[in-house]
Amino acid sequence: MRLATPPGFATEVFILEGPARDLLPEGAWTLVGDRCLREAWLAAGMPEPGHALWVSVPEKDKKLSAVLPWLEHWASVPLHRDLTVVALGGGVLTDLTGLAASLYLRGVPWQVWPTTLLAMADAALGGKTGADLAAGKNLVGAFHPPRRLVACTSFLAGLPPRHLQNGRWELIKTALIQGELAWAEEMLQDGPVKIAWVERALAFKAGVVHRDPREAGERRLLNLGHTLGHALEAASGYQLLHGEAVGLGLLGACFLAEEEGLKHLPPALLGLMAGRLAPLVSLVAPWPACLPLLERDKKSKRSNGHTEATPATEIYCILPRPGESAVQRALPPKAWETSHARLLSMLHQETDRA
Ligand SMILES: NC(=O)c1ccc[n+]([C@@H]2O[C@H](COP(=O)([O-])OP(=O)(O)OC[C@H]3O[C@@H](n4cnc5c(N)ncnc54)[C@H](O)[C@@H]3O)[C@@H](O)[C@H]2O)c1
Repeated sequence: MRLATPPGFATEVFILEGPARDLLPEGAWTLVGDRCLREAWLAAGMPEPGHALWVSVPEKDKKLSAVLPWLEHWASVPLHRDLTVVALGGGVLTDLTGLAASLYLRGVPWQVWPTTLLAMADAALGGKTGADLAAGKNLVGAFHPPRRLVACTSFLAGLPPRHLQNGRWELIKTALIQGELAWAEEMLQDGPVKIAWVERALAFKAGVVHRDPREAGERRLLNLGHTLGHALEAASGYQLLHGEAVGLGLLGACFLAEEEGLKHLPPALLGLMAGRLAPLVSLVAPWPACLPLLERDKKSKRSNGHTEATPATEIYCILPRPGESAVQRALPPKAWETSHARLLSMLHQETDRA
């Protein structure tokens, strides 16, 4: 089915059970695909275009250096400007392939065929492409929306359970941004992921991105859980998966909202979140390891006239609110420290209870 998106939205969005040849580009195209999906792609009767690249890029290697050989390969063929690049894989591969498409010949069109739950529910939509720098996650990139997004749910059958759980956190984030606690609670229960959740999340994100493509305002809300999440992910040496780190960041944001005096989220909901996150407690870095990463965040504020080396005075945060849309606030590091301590303490309590 084709998802309804706002008129003039840059990306056509399809959610299908299995891959469909007729959604591939009509003209010249090439593919960058995750090596682990080649067999499933071909077994589904999908074609392998000329000069396809089948690659394997772990999260820790999501760097510009991963993309350079692809660009050199395309240029050596050479592939021309009428080319469309198809990205087939999880969020790491689709972020990097979108970045490569934005750079090659100063930008060629691309399609995204996400194959993890996280990429289907979030990463593939919205036109943000990117790579990490030593200083932090996604610090280099381009806004380059794909022409088409094709999410084929049959690919999820091969996804390890940890990665299914990982993607669920971006869905839960979407519910919390809107203050939709019943939906968040439904997704925190055990049981299979519903494709209807993915459709709902994509429809919401398409609306936000269409209204604010460059993240000048409303789109910042999509970063709920990400500021602390990115710090925890990097501080764990990427042992935490992106969605897991976002889940931890979401619970941290619930505590920050309380510190800021906003209406509290129900303890039962926090308990459900903590129950799912407790097995990750050993990967949660201590506060001193998180602080420098938070201060380096794209969203941190320094007092006027000070240099990069000056500690941040406040760090922007998105805070969830029951029954209403989340809000952005800037909070001092001390408030973040308290929320980090409460997060760790609740995860330990859950672990002791289990
Ligand atoms: N651009 C955005 O707006 C945006 C939003 C959210 C997240 N992201 C990015 O997404 C990345 C995380 O993506 P991810 O969680 O998909 O991780 P990932 O891309 O690393 O994929 C996870 C693992 O699953 C494998 N895999 C992929 N599809 C599979 C399948 N169908 N069956 C079995 N294995 C499969 C991959 O090889 C990889 O080992 C992060 O780098 C994050 O920054 C981007």
